[in-house]
Amino acid sequence: MKPVKKAVLPVAGFGTRVLPATKTVPKEMLTVVDRPALQYVVDEAIEAGIEHFVFITARGKIAISDYFDTAYELEDALQRKGKTDIYNRLKAKQPREGTMSFVRQQEAKGLGHAVWCARDIIGDDPFAVLLPDVLIQSDVRSCLAQMMEAYHEVGGNIIAVDPVPDERVSSYGVIKPKDPVTAKTKTIIPMDGMVEKPALKDAPSNLKITGRYILQPELMGLLKDQAAGAGGEIQLTDAMARLMKTQEFHAFVYDGQDYDCGSKLGYFEAVMAFARIHPDIGKDARALIRKSAEQA
Ligand code: G1P
Repeated sequence: MKPVKKAVLPVAGFGTRVLPATKTVPKEMLTVVDRPALQYVVDEAIEAGIEHFVFITARGKIAISDYFDTAYELEDALQRKGKTDIYNRLKAKQPREGTMSFVRQQEAKGLGHAVWCARDIIGDDPFAVLLPDVLIQSDVRSCLAQMMEAYHEVGGNIIAVDPVPDERVSSYGVIKPKDPVTAKTKTIIPMDGMVEKPALKDAPSNLKITGRYILQPELMGLLKDQAAGAGGEIQLTDAMARLMKTQEFHAFVYDGQDYDCGSKLGYFEAVMAFARIHPDIGKDARALIRKSAEQA
């Protein structure tokens, strides 16, 4: 079994749900406590053993590649002023040269198309996909690290899933488990199908696709000629459903809580959740949240 060392992060979207904030700031760069949302996703992937990141970017998203670059003037100023702590923290987050690639998606044709833009860099290797809108907080190992453990057990393709209430089912990709899901169902679930944004009456389960995937490279060949699906976009879910005819897929119920930072409320929840556990401000943040709840 080939190890998963590459990850694709689609970051080309406009972030229309949080305009006007995203008119000049890419949504992935919005601050969650003291870091851009994207940094949490990169950290999650590093914990899982990812060594190369492929960002699928677009015009107006230069802030993302600049963020991962050396900021010479800033670093020089910090060193000259003796702000060694801040300098060291900044450098600790800097990726090693040559470990990040930036590919432009020239037309917004959908998530499947965005992932396909990484095909030359992925080559014949299995790869992870992380949707950076979604931040996942976990008390154990990062979501992708948990998925890697499942991958070592069963191989093939692994998709992170989480139950959602009926009224939200049609906002997501939804999986069809091979056997009915019961309280005894394990965290690794053999799959029979999946569908993107189904009407509630057509939904094969209430297990939504969360935005973390481990995929085999053969998917790229299917994405190449994938027809547009839900919303008129080339959907990753549709190509995965085709790959399922020849390869094993398992859904994985992770331990953790996901936050949709592409929405106003999800972003607000993420800021609260990460503030609560932050080493510098966690205690005060929890007190503030309690105080605010009493006033509400
Ligand atoms: C995408 C995927 C969908 C998944 C969702 C998770 O949809 O296509 O299958 O459930 O992310 O956030 P989007 O939110 O881009 O419409």
